[in-house]
Amino acid sequence: MIEVGVIGATGYTGLELIRLLVNHPQVNLHFATSKSRAGENLSAVFPSAADIPLIDPEKAPLKGTDVVYLCLPHAESASVAVEALDAGLRVIDLSADFRLRDAAIYQQWYKVEHPAPELLAEAVYGLTEVVRDDLPEARLIANPGCYPTSVLLPLKPLLDQDAITDTIIVDSKSGVSGAGRKPKQMTHYVEVEGNLSPYSIGRVHRHLPEMEQVVSWWSQKAPAMIFSPHLIPAPRGIVSTIYVQLDAGWNEAKLFDLYNQAYRNEAFIHVLAAGETATYAHVNYTNRCAIGLALAEGTLIITSAIDNLIKGASGQAIQNMNAMFGFDETVGLPQ
Ligand SMILES: NC(=O)c1ccc[n+]([C@@H]2O[C@H](COP(=O)([O-])OP(=O)(O)OC[C@H]3O[C@@H](n4cnc5c(N)ncnc54)[C@H](OP(=O)(O)O)[C@@H]3O)[C@@H](O)[C@H]2O)c1
Repeated sequence: MIEVGVIGATGYTGLELIRLLVNHPQVNLHFATSKSRAGENLSAVFPSAADIPLIDPEKAPLKGTDVVYLCLPHAESASVAVEALDAGLRVIDLSADFRLRDAAIYQQWYKVEHPAPELLAEAVYGLTEVVRDDLPEARLIANPGCYPTSVLLPLKPLLDQDAITDTIIVDSKSGVSGAGRKPKQMTHYVEVEGNLSPYSIGRVHRHLPEMEQVVSWWSQKAPAMIFSPHLIPAPRGIVSTIYVQLDAGWNEAKLFDLYNQAYRNEAFIHVLAAGETATYAHVNYTNRCAIGLALAEGTLIITSAIDNLIKGASGQAIQNMNAMFGFDETVGLPQ
């Protein structure tokens, strides 16, 4: 049994994390914090939640805690991570603060000086299926972004083969919980319902440098990306449609063989049968990533679906914790 804390429990990822952690057989939820609702129960914020007391983050009992999850906005997380690491805890950060290795690139994209650049080299970029061997020793895990999770897992087998010959084009559709709970005009019901909005298209979304960084780790050729996210009127879920140009010699049978080999032992990665495309219905409320493959005139069209709050955030964070502490990776997670 390990003792865990959740900082930023009143956000969407915090709620999802607690919902899963309270049913995890090897975890005791030691504390959950909120600045804005300290002194109340989580059920006062979310009626469906358990009666978990919310405490002020300043009073978080770090002593006696093994691991803490940070469910805070970027730039808020890093200083809390420093404090928790100094107190001897292990940290799983759901924000973007430790995902980019280069503090200058972080500053360029997040418009703020990195609060703890000395930790960037140490942080493990937590795509569990890829880095599970590093997790038992890790002190600090940078949980990947939701869009990057949906894009990188299906690209990995091809990048490992250096099979991609041109710019990767990604078109992603996200439900509104991806934007967090703090209201913004773009996420207002009236703006979202009945609408579909492309935003930050091309090469301007903050998840672009995160994805290109990882692509460059995996492939000598490091193809560039065009990334166009869309907001759709659904509460949760991401579908990414990814267009990839391949070396000559790839056919459908060879591609399915590559993917089925790469992911045959993965509990959470589902390579769909030929002719099937990945949808929200394959993944929502689960920790799965569903991957569909289709070839059209030599272009590979990958469809990839995840639940942004589970595989794209809190579920992957728990999968990382499971690997970190030597538990079965699937424990406590909806398959
Ligand atoms: N939503 C997703 O699908 C998703 C997926 C992957 C990663 N992430 C990342 O995970 C982190 C949490 O995301 P989320 O969607 O749970 O966010 P959220 O719904 O906006 O919640 C963030 C929580 O952080 C706390 N907080 C502390 N300082 C804050 C500040 N200065 N401004 C706003 N909130 C502050 C708030 O709780 P109190 O005020 O009560 O303390 C708030 O409930 C973010 O960094 C996000 O980018 C989100």
